[in-house]
Amino acid sequence: MKMKITGKTQVLGIIGHPVEHSLSPAMHNTAIEALGIDYVYVPFAVEPVNLSTALKGLRVLGVRGFNVTIPHKSAILPLLDKVSPEAELCGAVNTVCRENDLLIGYNTDGTGLLKSLREDLGFEPVGATVLVLGAGGAARGALASLCNAGVSRIVIANRTLERGEILVERFRGLFRNVTFHLSTLDMKQLEGYMKTCDLLINTTSVGMNGSSFEGLDLSPIASHALVYDMVYSPPETPLLAAAKRNGSAHANGLGMLAAQGEAAFSIWTGVESPPGLMKRRLLEMFAA
Ligand code: ATR
Repeated sequence: MKMKITGKTQVLGIIGHPVEHSLSPAMHNTAIEALGIDYVYVPFAVEPVNLSTALKGLRVLGVRGFNVTIPHKSAILPLLDKVSPEAELCGAVNTVCRENDLLIGYNTDGTGLLKSLREDLGFEPVGATVLVLGAGGAARGALASLCNAGVSRIVIANRTLERGEILVERFRGLFRNVTFHLSTLDMKQLEGYMKTCDLLINTTSVGMNGSSFEGLDLSPIASHALVYDMVYSPPETPLLAAAKRNGSAHANGLGMLAAQGEAAFSIWTGVESPPGLMKRRLLEMFAA
């Protein structure tokens, strides 16, 4: 069904800076069209200095909901009326829904990650050992969802050890049933952790635009271990190419992008996006 804007059309969108390269408008509008529901999803470029004014505007304009992307994911927390426990734990909001005139913040990245890990790699989190590359915002989100899903051991490997320490200390205090380790990206230290992990996941931006981890060698990982890269552009990052050479099952972050979108869509509209549709649309856009 073709989308038709009426006086009753409800507005969804994304705030970020920049937003012009966002794949979310195409993804969500495809689902809206497929379901024939009266919504439209638009991009809003909001500079950091304008975030609080933009929120006032979105409130009075009655926007139904919106995604939040770089650089507002953390800065938006104190400006919202309520934040879900998951978003609080991640320290980041990627989805806001207006409910009874209140703006409620959610984080669907974690749900998206777990869904993609299950569907794309068959990963079962309970009891697993996960080696996480990176200790920034995306790593914190991954830790929150993995710990909540029941993994038993997490190794944080980060270029800057101090940053990894802060993350590990925070999560150690919150998840007593999970064992945490800390490593640099040096192979001498990483090798042992690689041998015992069930999943290795890159949460950093390394891999974008052809960049790669210097000296990282995946050969120590076990034959059953899975490799996931949150980066999806290029679709085959150097890390994933190494996983392929190693014979390890691997996937990029496109499934996570689609799944976090599906979760946000159902929060706003109360209906599910047709299964697989958002991911197919993303794949189409990449093929083009
Ligand atoms: P995000 O919110 O996307 O996670 P971030 O909070 O800035 O972004 O975190 C970026 C992460 O990528 C950090 O773990 C960073 O490592 P440092 O803490 O040492 O800065 C990691 N990172 C970025 N570029 C990197 C590179 N070239 N090699 C290794 N790690 C890198």
